[in-house]
This record gives sequence, structure tokens and C-alpha cells, in this order.
Amino acid sequence: MAKTKSAYFCQSCGHESAKWLGKCPSCNTWNSFVEEVVQKDNNQIFGKNSSRLAMPVAVNEIALDNEQRFILKDAELNRVLGGGIVPGSLILFGGEPGIGKSTLMLQLAVAEEKLKVLYISGEESEKQIRLRGERIGLLNKQCFILTETSTQNIFIQVEQLQPDLLIIDSVQTLHTSFIESSPGSVSQIRECTAEIMRFAKQTATPVFLIGHITKDGSLAGPKVLEHMVDTVLQFEGDQNHVYRLIRSLKNRFGSTNELGIYEMTGGGLRQVPNPSEVLITRNEDQLSGVAIGATMEGIRPLLVEVQALVSTAAYGTPQRSATGFDTKRLNMLLAVLEKRCGFKLAAKDVFLNIAGGIRVDDPSIDLAVAAAVLSSNIDIPLDSKTSFSAEVGLTGEIRPVSRIEQRIAEAEKLGYEKIIISKYNKGLKKSDFTIEIIQSGRIEEVLREVLG
Ligand code: TYD
Ligand code: MG
Repeated sequence: MAKTKSAYFCQSCGHESAKWLGKCPSCNTWNSFVEEVVQKDNNQIFGKNSSRLAMPVAVNEIALDNEQRFILKDAELNRVLGGGIVPGSLILFGGEPGIGKSTLMLQLAVAEEKLKVLYISGEESEKQIRLRGERIGLLNKQCFILTETSTQNIFIQVEQLQPDLLIIDSVQTLHTSFIESSPGSVSQIRECTAEIMRFAKQTATPVFLIGHITKDGSLAGPKVLEHMVDTVLQFEGDQNHVYRLIRSLKNRFGSTNELGIYEMTGGGLRQVPNPSEVLITRNEDQLSGVAIGATMEGIRPLLVEVQALVSTAAYGTPQRSATGFDTKRLNMLLAVLEKRCGFKLAAKDVFLNIAGGIRVDDPSIDLAVAAAVLSSNIDIPLDSKTSFSAEVGLTGEIRPVSRIEQRIAEAEKLGYEKIIISKYNKGLKKSDFTIEIIQSGRIEEVLREVLG
């Protein structure tokens, strides 16, 4: 038995110190050090024979034939991963409890009929997983379930089964016998991830590692995890809404601008290939206070419905509240409308909502917000075939936004007949589109155009 040694670890960033500290010198968190037993023992199962001496290779001589990606059946996941899974990649899949991580991963495991998948769960029993599998439809006879939390035992099973894809639910339940601290502690998480990483790289098996997220939104366990893995995906969405988004926070094999959208149904998660369609409610009779804005989520154009309600303030101070949009920005737009267009909004309550429970930070929906507010204020509906995509400046000028062609194309695809954009969006070939493109430079002009 090797000599055991203990050290203090910051539970927030994983900084190691020989003695207890009140404040972490690395991430400045107070009172985050916890003593953990570490045992420096190099006889790990994976990595034991990794003492092969690496030789420098000229970059253009490195063989590329191993860059064969697995294309998954799940198109949304393929896209966020940058076009399928790279062999040997370690993907950290994080999200709040109950958001649907286990569901999505199990769905992936049972859908890939061509792959032998091993789903390891430290959180649920085989029966529970089977029951969940029944709900989402079992297809893959090559999907194996293992309920195990010790990495050494996991590797024994993995070596026997030789799966093509490994899914581990979750990293916080894993423990390795080389370290004596409890599962979920920083040193356990780090060591287990390192073992799995060595396994993934040596056997070229892709691994999905599920991780929980703490209340403040960071991946539970230390940031070191994010440095170690190849890809970090985050599963998010409002639990009261049915839509779930996968965002890529880090990707060594693709762009981080991609977004995957799912809908939680009674039979598991359903892919939403055309998000704009579900985010917009199509009413037969057009209501006032509704405007359609074309924004971008990553590199994907997205049409969202902006709803506004303007009413006379019941109390002295008017209320301004926004869901899915920045309240400060709303206040700024209201001030612009007041000053530049002469609308008296100071004594009105203004409520704003982005339908579908999503959050938009892209300033390109400014114009849609302004139009929705005024439409509600004068109670005249906007034309249901008109969409907007432009930023509004403090002087009331209509500012251009990026990737305008994509936004226009999306509006056209969804059947809109008119889109209002900035006149400063230069070099646009209007003849490429059948949708009517109106370019304007002033907010007054736009409002005259749409509200008469
Ligand atoms: P789960 O995958 O267990 O979440 P996580 O692993 O991220 O903690 O998801 C649980 C939620 O999903 C639960 O509240 C119920 C819901 N759900 C459905 O709505 N439909 C389904 O078919 C399944 C399997 C789960
Ligand atoms: Mg789970």
C-alpha cells in the first residue's frame, strides 16, 4: 500500500494547495478549500502502458485517415458537434437536473442501430432505464446498460464488450479506487475524467460524459473538466417550456456557434428541424402588439414572435417588464420612440414577451420590438406577412445587422411577403429574393410604412 497523502482542493476551480487557504489564489473564491485524500499511484488501468516515447512528426505527414466521423441519426446533435462524432473524442454534456440529459443520451443509444453502445448509469437502476427506453421506443439490440460507478470495474466491462460508443451518466457519480475522497469531489471528478480521457484516446472510442450543473449555471465540479475534454455541450431551456436547446461551449472539432433544438414530448425528445415554425403562432385574425423579428442563433437564422402590451399605468410609476429581452434595452427603445416619434409612453405600462420562452440578445429584433409596442399602443395590428430585422440606434436611425441575406432567406422560406431592414445594409441583391425588401433609414419612416 502506497503512502497516502492529503491536499486541499478548491471546490470551484480545482486549485491544489498543501495547506488550507481562506481564499483561492486562482479563482478568488472564499472558503472553497476542502481536504481530500490523494494517493499518487501511477498504476492506473488505462495509461499504465502509455510510457511509449512520443516522437516529433512533421505536421503535413500526420496521417489523416482516422478523421472518420460517425454521423449520428440525430441531426441536431450532429450539427452542434460540427458534423458527427470524432473517434476518441470526449464530450462533456452538461445541464441542470431534470432538463433531459439522460433521456437524450438514452435516445441516442437506442437509435444508433449500427453501433454497439454501452450506457453506464450511476444514477438509475437497469429497470428504470428500461422503462424510460420503452417510453422513447427501443430499437437497438446492441445497446447495453451497465449500472456501475467504479471506473476500474467500468474498464473491465468495456474491455470485454468493446463498445463503439460509451455514454456515462454522470461524471459526478464516478469514483476511482486510486483516490480516497468521496465521489463528486474535485479530485475524484478530475481523476475519473483523466482515466476516461486516456481510455478514449487510446481506443479511439467516443465518450459522452454527462455532468450536472450547479445553481449558478456552471458545470458542477471544477473548470478543469472543461479544459480536459474535447467538447463541452450544454443542454438548457426553461423547464416550464417544452423547448430544449443544446449549445456548444467548446469544440475542438467544430464551431461553437451551432444550436440544436428539441421539444420534450411524452415519448422523449423530438428534434425541431425548423425552429421558426414552432416559435411563431399563426393566428388567423391578426392581433395588435405582435411583430415578427428575424434574429440569429449562432449561425442559424431564427424568426421570433415579439409580443407587446401597452396599457395605462394603474399606479403612478409605470411598469416596464420584459421576458426574453433585456429590460434596459426596452427602456431605451421606449425613450427613442417617445423622443423621435412623439408617442407618449411615459405614463403607460409596457410588457414585452418573446414567444416560445427563448431569450434573444441579438439587437436585430429592436425594430420588431418597437413595432410591436406601437402596434399595441394604438391598437392597430401589423400586417401578418411583414417581418423586421434591424437594430435601432439612439437617434432613431435604423442600423444594419450582420448576415442579412440569411435572415431574409429564412423569412422568405416561412412565407413572409415583406421584410423591413436598414438602408445601410449595402451590397444586397434584391433580385435574389422574391420577398419584398424595404430598406429604411429612420424609425419614423418605418412606422409610417407599417402602421399608416
Ligand atoms: P431526465 O433525462 O431524467 O433529466 P436529467 O437526466 O437531465 O436529470 O429528464 C427528466 C424529465 O423529462 C422528467 O421531468 C420527465 C421528462 N420526460 C418527458 O417529458 N417525456 C419522456 O418521454 C421522458 C423519458 C422524460
Ligand atoms: Mg439523469
